[in-house]
Amino acid sequence: MKKVTCYAVVAVLALGLCFAGASIASDKGPADITLESTIDKAKKAKIAQFPHAKHQETLKCAECHHSKGADGKQVAYVEDQKIEKCESCHNKAAGMPKEVATFKDAAHANCKECHKAKDKALAKCTVCHPKK
Ligand code: HEC
Ligand code: HEC
Ligand code: HEC
Ligand code: HEC
Repeated sequence: MKKVTCYAVVAVLALGLCFAGASIASDKGPADITLESTIDKAKKAKIAQFPHAKHQETLKCAECHHSKGADGKQVAYVEDQKIEKCESCHNKAAGMPKEVATFKDAAHANCKECHKAKDKALAKCTVCHPKK
């Protein structure tokens, strides 16, 4: 009888692990992303490279992702929320505050400011914008 209980416990544990596995597999997006403005493009386009997975190792999703409420204000990131492109909200036509009015401005306010705070060398243009 003892053995049976034991198997039952193992089965329950295994099931639990399966569910844990499923939540780990929730969408983390691509490991590496090439970012490019498509709406408010600069005259001379400049792509930015972004090692997404590497940042996910040390940062919370909420450090970069959020959404927008019906009142137009920022809504803090919640797990498994829909993640839209930054530029879908941060573009000139959307009328965001000047500091984050375009993809470039929002990206610089997020990416570049953190880099600058960590280490000046990380804020050099070529860290994100590779030389051609
Ligand atoms: C920490 C990363 C990072 C650093 C450092 C950085 N940028 Fe950017 N920059 C971005 C991202 C992300 C974008 C938005 C995506 C894109 O268009 O490349 C962007 C956009 C731009 C754009 C608009 C490009 C376009 O095609 O519309 C320009 C111009 C630009 N950056 C110039 C600079 C210059 C000049 C420096 C150095 C003084 C710099 N950036 C440093 C991340 C960075
Ligand atoms: C350092 C900033 C940063 C962190 C931290 C981060 N992301 Fe991202 N993520 C981005 C950027 C930038 C993009 C590209 C958005 C764009 O193309 O405009 C992106 C794209 C995505 C996408 C793809 C969206 C699409 O369809 O284009 C998903 C999904 C995603 N992230 C999930 C996550 C999750 C989940 C976490 C936490 C485990 C996370 N991200 C952490 C910056 C970040
Ligand atoms: C669904 C719309 C939406 C998306 C998508 C979005 N943002 Fe925002 N973001 C907002 C709103 C709304 C605010 C608040 C603006 C204000 O101050 O009124 C904001 C503010 C910001 C700010 C300034 C405040 C802060 O939190 O530091 C930064 C930086 C920023 N966003 C960067 C990003 C980046 C980078 C992405 C893509 C990874 C992104 N946003 C995606 C709507 C969005
Ligand atoms: C909250 C802080 C933070 C934010 C936000 C952030 N980064 Fe970083 N990023 C770092 C740190 C710290 C490193 C150095 C990590 C290392 O070398 O292990 C780094 C490294 C990098 C590197 C160099 C990776 C390498 O292999 O040398 C690139 C490129 C980069 N980030 C691009 C971006 C872009 C583009 C964004 C915005 C979409 C961004 N980062 C947002 C903190 C941040």
